[in-house]
Amino acid sequence: MAGIYVHIPFCKKRCSYCDFHFSTTFSNYREKLITAICLELEIRKTELEDVPVETVYFGGGTPSLLTKDELSDILVAVRGANQLIADPEITFEVNPDDATEENLIAWKELGINRLSIGLQSFQETDLAWMNRSHSTQQGEEAVRLAQVLGFDNISIDLIYGLPELSNDQWVAHLDRALSLNVQHISSYCLTIEPKTALNDFVAKGKLRRPTEDQQSEQFDLLVSTLGNARFEHYEISNFAKDQKYAKHNSSYWNFTPYIGVGPSAHSFNGHQRRWNVANNTKYFQQVGKNQDWFEVETLSLAEKWNEYFLTGLRTKWGILKRSISDLGGFNAAELKQLETYLRTDLMMENQENYVLTEKGKLQADGIASSFFRLD
Ligand SMILES: C[S@@+](CC[C@H](N)C(=O)[O-])C[C@H]1O[C@@H](n2cnc3c(N)ncnc32)[C@H](O)[C@@H]1O
Ligand code: SF4
Repeated sequence: MAGIYVHIPFCKKRCSYCDFHFSTTFSNYREKLITAICLELEIRKTELEDVPVETVYFGGGTPSLLTKDELSDILVAVRGANQLIADPEITFEVNPDDATEENLIAWKELGINRLSIGLQSFQETDLAWMNRSHSTQQGEEAVRLAQVLGFDNISIDLIYGLPELSNDQWVAHLDRALSLNVQHISSYCLTIEPKTALNDFVAKGKLRRPTEDQQSEQFDLLVSTLGNARFEHYEISNFAKDQKYAKHNSSYWNFTPYIGVGPSAHSFNGHQRRWNVANNTKYFQQVGKNQDWFEVETLSLAEKWNEYFLTGLRTKWGILKRSISDLGGFNAAELKQLETYLRTDLMMENQENYVLTEKGKLQADGIASSFFRLD
């Protein structure tokens, strides 16, 4: 099994908190982008030979800025270069202001069967300082319209730990999210990235820096509120109803190979990580010449071990005893470390795996890194 990720590096506006790779000049570059992405797919068509592709993910940036024809061209290239299974999961990241009836119908006709809609907050003042291109009402209407038009696998993104968000307001946001009857919720704690407008707002005192206590209390509220509503907490930031897990994202966490196309997209083939240049013009030019648009790194055994702990421990599937032994097994110091976590109720042992407890999930990255090995 394998996945394809397509990165669309353009957005209408620059959200104040975002440091993903994107630019706001799409109109000048649309044709170049589609041509280069289709060409990259063609050039790389032997990479997943004989491996069935189960998931396709359009992320960004803002894929919902694509026209029906542009999206169709990319999907034809994806299908032409890979063996898709009969019913692949095809996820499309959507900004609410793009979710018009016409677009939703087009996306459905093209075979998109999972939407990830970026609502981010249910408070208008938050959307204002975030510089989002939609209102809270547009967010809720996007979900409802998608449901009316037959989408039955919808995820929404929400951010917590925001400067002015009280715990009561956060619970109210979660209640509003639950009233939308979506199948999946991704919820991230706000990170204040350097070189973003948000970083400036906080540095100049225009917005309050959220405290660690506030962020961890809101994580607890997230877990308990969604848990009470029968959402399964299957990855630190991801919650699913009725096992509607994000299949594509799960492949990142369990070491399934994937090809990432488009500027700044990452790929993984089981042994090597590869990343495309995070510069749109360079990407178009270099793909056109079929040279030097990416860098590759071969993972050492220690790096595979470290990544396995970092990603595996974030999920409800944890780290498998079988995979640990394939990677060389625990040494004496690591075993001692493991026993401490088991004794202090941060980790749990099952027949086939080790998983973090709810208490452990709060320290997931710290626990994972305590098992890290040097080359
Ligand atoms: C890069 S965006 C792409 C999706 C789409 N363009 C959107 O904005 O909805 C993916 C998600 O990452 C999350 N995200 C981006 N920057 C973040 C930050 N600094 N802190 C927390 N979450 C962030 C947001 O929830 C967002 O929906
Ligand atoms: S729309 Fe999404 S990708 Fe674009 S700037 Fe905003 S958060 Fe980042």
